[in-house]
Amino acid sequence: MKGKFVTFEGCEGSGKSTQIRLLSERLKTEGVPHMVTREPGGSDIAEQIRAVILNGKNSAMCDECEALLYAAARAQHLREKVQPALRAGMLVLCDRYVDSSLAYQGYARGLGADFIADINGFAMRDFTPDVTLFLDISPEAAFRRKHGADEDDRMEQLGLDFHRKVYQGYLKLAASYPERIVKVECGGSKFRTAEGIYSLLKRRGII
Ligand code: TYD
Repeated sequence: MKGKFVTFEGCEGSGKSTQIRLLSERLKTEGVPHMVTREPGGSDIAEQIRAVILNGKNSAMCDECEALLYAAARAQHLREKVQPALRAGMLVLCDRYVDSSLAYQGYARGLGADFIADINGFAMRDFTPDVTLFLDISPEAAFRRKHGADEDDRMEQLGLDFHRKVYQGYLKLAASYPERIVKVECGGSKFRTAEGIYSLLKRRGII
């Protein structure tokens, strides 16, 4: 693929969307062609799957169904949006990708890394990001910053213990893939974090 694929990961409220927006604004002023997208979603079909997964009324959804729906949305989004953009030489900035499934469904839900790797291996055909930025902030600090969880969001309602496990899962992933996953300190000002992300992508030859 000609383009570069950068994914952003972290707990709820870690500031991924803000950082993607700040980076995208800077890239626009510099004339760098790029596409901003997100998971679950990013394409019409995948956004429909997202609505089912996150709907707070779907409390009966079993963990296996949840994991498969995330993988299904990923397969669609990857083929419909991400891969064509990369083939066209664009830089793709994606809010969440397979590491979210490993941290949330594999680790915090307890489905295990092997099962998540299996279903996502099928969904993505081992299509890995060039770099993954893990916005490293504890769930306690992140929820404080975003003033609590969203009542209509099935995943946000899961409570602090669940989100602590997600965070632990991310730390393990970052330790397992130190080349690909870069920890980004994000407890301070959003502009300082944005500067750190920009220089890191420059150093890595992504932009
Ligand atoms: P979203 O509102 O986009 O959350 P955020 O702004 O924090 O990224 O909702 C996505 C939710 O889905 C979020 O709780 C993380 C969860 N998720 C998984 O559990 N597994 C996955 O594979 C993905 C992509 C997301």
